[in-house]
Amino acid sequence: MFRVPKSVMLAAIAFIVILLLQPHRGVTTPIMTDQPPLVIGHRGASGYRPEHTLAAYELAIQMGVDYIEPDIVSTKDGELIARHENDIAETTDVSEHPEFSDRKTTKMIDGKEVTSWFTEDFTLAEIKTLRAKERLPFRSSAYNGQFEIPTLQEVIDLAKQKTAQTGRTIGIYPETKHPTYFDSINLSLSEPLVAIFKKNGYTSSSSSVFIQSFEVENLKQLNQMIDVPLVQLLDAADMQPYDFVVKGDSRTYADLTTPTELAKIAEYADGLGPYKRLIVPVGEDKRLKAPTALINDAHTAGLKVHTWTFRNENQYLAPDYNGSSQAEYEQFFKLGIDGVFSDFPDTAVNARNQIFSSST
Ligand code: G3P
Ligand code: CA
Repeated sequence: MFRVPKSVMLAAIAFIVILLLQPHRGVTTPIMTDQPPLVIGHRGASGYRPEHTLAAYELAIQMGVDYIEPDIVSTKDGELIARHENDIAETTDVSEHPEFSDRKTTKMIDGKEVTSWFTEDFTLAEIKTLRAKERLPFRSSAYNGQFEIPTLQEVIDLAKQKTAQTGRTIGIYPETKHPTYFDSINLSLSEPLVAIFKKNGYTSSSSSVFIQSFEVENLKQLNQMIDVPLVQLLDAADMQPYDFVVKGDSRTYADLTTPTELAKIAEYADGLGPYKRLIVPVGEDKRLKAPTALINDAHTAGLKVHTWTFRNENQYLAPDYNGSSQAEYEQFFKLGIDGVFSDFPDTAVNARNQIFSSST
């Protein structure tokens, strides 16, 4: 009787298992590597606590992240603080402070007119009198009014303290927000950021840090100033880095995804931080389309790929995932992603544990 060799049988079983693991349209053959992806606590565990607070970062660490992500902006006195925007109306109680009512003003930020309160009009001491609040109306407001706005140094202190306590290395992953704008008001982010990194011993390519930015020029400058890993963020395909807009450079983020442009990025950066829709696009009906070659092309250029943002809520999930945020992580992990930014680090870590323990 004809006997199928055991190795062929095992390969066939593995192939069938792989097929069964792909219930979603647009998922290609897995190219998952042995190296589990990093989980980065996006603005902390911001699905559970007001974003960019020590409580949000601490919870993310407790949930098992490898890195915590502070977006950084400057105060009037040049202190770097953790906020997604220099506009602090949505994430703090500043509007309830009558002593600051006259600070509300209108400015052009990255080409858009914004009327609000801005970090660069407050000293750090004044910022410290504010309290954080939840930005999104469908998330819990139970922690509003409880937490201060942390400085970058306080975020680093937390990472170091938790590294010592847990024995796990907790990295930090700051993002320079509006670097061209802050340069224009003589509050450049790069110099104080480099000074803080040097003071804290984050000075080599093996340090547990990444610096990320949607703009290009500040990363090129940082590459001359300090030897730590840098990540070029890529926003939605039709958008542009704001420093390109200022210079009259017409390239979009989509234009930066070609192998030629990725090779240029690899001259100053170590990683790519693309919007997840540059990897798994969706149609107008929000259904998943076939993945692009971006992960492979970036790897060929020598760049790690960390994508964003993973959120559990249904309104952020493509319908093909059938309400399962786990399925979304699974798809990106199988595509060979090197890291994910997540608002819900517990879900990300669970998905990673399940996928990577089942693959060994
Ligand atoms: O930095 C990765 C991701 O955080 C980029 O988006 O707008 O949440 O800073 P954003
Ligand atoms: Ca960010």
